Amino acid sequence: MQIDIQFLPFSPDPSTLSRKTIVVIDVLRATSVIIHAISQGALEIIPVATVEEAFQLAKHFPQGTPLLGGERGSQKIKGFDLGNSPREYIAEKVKGKTLILTTTNGTKAFHSVSSGREVMAGSFFNIGATAKWCLDLDRDMLLFPSGDGGSFSLEDTICGGMLIDQFIKIGGKSVALTDAAQSAHILYQRFEDNLVEAFHVSTHGRDLVAKGFEDDLAYCAQIDITNIVPTFRDGVIRSSFAPSLSPQRLCRNREQRGRGSQVPKL
Ligand code: MLT
Repeated sequence: MQIDIQFLPFSPDPSTLSRKTIVVIDVLRATSVIIHAISQGALEIIPVATVEEAFQLAKHFPQGTPLLGGERGSQKIKGFDLGNSPREYIAEKVKGKTLILTTTNGTKAFHSVSSGREVMAGSFFNIGATAKWCLDLDRDMLLFPSGDGGSFSLEDTICGGMLIDQFIKIGGKSVALTDAAQSAHILYQRFEDNLVEAFHVSTHGRDLVAKGFEDDLAYCAQIDITNIVPTFRDGVIRSSFAPSLSPQRLCRNREQRGRGSQVPKL
């Protein structure tokens, strides 16, 4: 399987995606929110590009049933139920609910790669399960960092680099890395012992600190807190599990690696 990573979040030619597994990454914070919400029991998440679209879509549901979540300028949107901190998306609020989510970069990214064979949501929260499932599928892959306003995003690229590291370490498949994928792997190795440091170096991480969301940095740096790999199909993100990855096995992986930070109960 060939692994590539696209450093800038422009829409790839759909014909190049149809046989590939795609992993959308927006560690700070959209895919972290999505994985967290689904792991807390959210029924489904509908990612939309604009605030207007979110309000319009909500009108098609019985009143008050979908929750509206997301951000602009990292802040909760007026009239929305939830902002864009994964810590808000807890079972008490999201269990059994449909969420309509709009964020500056992350939710758009899913639509940019919708013609992928599978489109998964990845972050540090589910990195082991994502790696295992991708290896099981054994298809060519495109890792798709959501970027930061169309620009390169350090934290998402490092997460892509960690996924590549897992492909290499888990082994068992012939993995060919493009130069871009090699570069992401090298970047990950620079920060592997301190992901929070990488967040503090990154433009978006510094912006979140300035806006009072510093606690989200440490929260989003947690590794393998769930084995759910949400997948995007027909415009909706739903819960999926890597077929051959049992929760027990995930725990063993985490113990062997021994450097995930504090694991909250999800
Ligand atoms: C995004 O999708 O652009 C981010 O999730 C923004 C944020 O951190 O709130």
